[in-house]
Amino acid sequence: MSSSAAAVAEKDDVLTAQNNYKIIQEVGNFEETEAKRPDFDHKKPIEVTKSPLPQWKYGDGVPDNGKSLAQQHHEIDPYAADRPMINNYRLLVSGIAPRPVGFISTVSADGQKNLSPFSYFQVVDHDPPMFIVGFSSRPGRVKDTYRNIKETGECVINTVSENMIEAVNATSIDAPYGVSEWDVSGLHEVPSTTVRPSRVAESVFSIEGKVVDIKEFSDHQQPGMSIAANVLIKATRFWVKEGSANADYSHIDVEKLRPVGQLGGISYGRITSTFERPRKKWSEEVPKSELLTKLDATKHNVK
Ligand SMILES: Cc1cc2nc3c(=O)[nH]c(=O)nc-3n(C[C@H](O)[C@H](O)[C@H](O)COP(=O)(O)O)c2cc1C
Repeated sequence: MSSSAAAVAEKDDVLTAQNNYKIIQEVGNFEETEAKRPDFDHKKPIEVTKSPLPQWKYGDGVPDNGKSLAQQHHEIDPYAADRPMINNYRLLVSGIAPRPVGFISTVSADGQKNLSPFSYFQVVDHDPPMFIVGFSSRPGRVKDTYRNIKETGECVINTVSENMIEAVNATSIDAPYGVSEWDVSGLHEVPSTTVRPSRVAESVFSIEGKVVDIKEFSDHQQPGMSIAANVLIKATRFWVKEGSANADYSHIDVEKLRPVGQLGGISYGRITSTFERPRKKWSEEVPKSELLTKLDATKHNVK
């Protein structure tokens, strides 16, 4: 095939991929739907309750009279020929929820700024402080954030609070390369110390970071679609909004953070209630529990 014929074939693949791409959900007249809902209560305090089953004992499992055990599970092969990718997307984002939103600021090698949200995102260790971000495949070119991160190896991960969600959601628009989502959102930049991309002034917590590793899933790439990739990022600096943490900056107050999590479909969730469960030590619990005493007797002594 000549190079121009290959370019036409590639363009056709992208057009087909675009027609099949259903990630951005059709929502009909959303303004009308939302108008019927109660207002968001900005002042709602975060209450602290008892845990769901404070009397739970070792071995109790889920005391629901076997109700949940009576329900069978449906097996799914995510790669089945008749299973559309969109079904895996909808299943995963609705079933693995809530997901924190990493709001990522990057700059390309030639200085183009970018700001976008990612909820295939997590902190995965604290020592060293490590983060992971998943960049999904889409028709045509890779996401600008991924392109920038790969080019420069730098980013800032910013947290998302309730008061930021409209602006953050707006930055997910498929703006053309070169258009800055800082302008689209109206959020404010503040300089970073160890990396070139700016921090988001409105965020309670920002993490400057550098890329440690990138895994591209070339074996899974479909015609006309960009490559999917996971990026591992190591923190180089933390920034915490004044008044949001304790004196030694070792704990951020959830009342100040007011985190938003992404759920399935077009839903987000907020924290309105919390409870506590202390973590226990085996040596202290064994003497208090018949079950643990019995289990302790079965342990294998490791030499
Ligand atoms: C809350 C939220 C979370 C998102 N999470 C991801 C994600 O984890 N991975 C991904 O590839 N896209 C995700 N997206 C979509 C991207 O933000 C979107 O494709 C955006 O246009 C990418 O921008 P960029 O091309 O400027 O990097 C998410 C969108 C929203 C609104």
